Amino acid sequence: MRVNSVSPLVEGIAEKAFLLAASSPHLDVRGVHCHIGSQIRTLDPFLKAVDILLEFMDALRRNHGLLLEELDLGGGLGVPYLDGEKGDFPSIRSYVETLTGKVREKCLSLSYPLPVLFVEPGRSIVNTAGSTVYRVGFVKEIPGVKKYVTVDGGMTDNPRPVLYGARYQALLGNRVEGGEKETVAIVGKCCESGDVLIPEIELPRVKRGDILVVEGTGAYNYSMASNYNLIPRPGVVFVRNGTARLVVRPESLSDLLRKDVIPEEGVG
Ligand SMILES: Cc1ncc(COP(=O)(O)O)c(C=O)c1O
Repeated sequence: MRVNSVSPLVEGIAEKAFLLAASSPHLDVRGVHCHIGSQIRTLDPFLKAVDILLEFMDALRRNHGLLLEELDLGGGLGVPYLDGEKGDFPSIRSYVETLTGKVREKCLSLSYPLPVLFVEPGRSIVNTAGSTVYRVGFVKEIPGVKKYVTVDGGMTDNPRPVLYGARYQALLGNRVEGGEKETVAIVGKCCESGDVLIPEIELPRVKRGDILVVEGTGAYNYSMASNYNLIPRPGVVFVRNGTARLVVRPESLSDLLRKDVIPEEGVG
């Protein structure tokens, strides 16, 4: 098994850190944690992580008598953002069954007592539960170049496309069935060349006032939203069985100004 050559495990840094922590009367050293990455499409990297971490735990036990009882494999299970990616990711069931099976097998082979196993999935639990709903503003066609559809949000509520080219799919909420389609770019209202939510998408002919629903924004959108260009952040609504409940109210102008300090002597 290959571990990155600068890995704290290979360099012995992790071992030193554990021994130091274990020697402290103020610390209770319970286990090992890792978070190996994000949007992981296969279970292999998690299986490698189990091998590496349990071998490390076993070495601590054999060489130093330090028995760790917890193993935390972090998050990272990927989810599809586009329809075409739907079969590309392991299900939560196979993730759980494969990981627990692997931990059992590895512990058996090392004669290591089964640790308490933790995982920290984020995106795979909440991403598909969320969508972002925009109102379409002006629609502008540059003949021979592109048709731009502007929405009342953009990189402030979803910085992922501008940060690292994240891709999304969308539909028209008020005309799901649609009609004749056209290819457009969905752009935000930040007046930045990077403020492109979806560079190219086929939608029914879009017009001002339409509702654009961008799917798969349940994770890393609300938490990443910003007041770039002093744009207020939108609210959050939970919907269940056709009933909507406001859980975060949209920001207002006074929210944006509430930290401003007016000089005692007045302005001017
Ligand atoms: C330590 C840790 N645990 C869990 C997660 C959640 O990861 P994901 O949403 O990819 O499952 C992250 C995300 O960066 C993380 O840093």
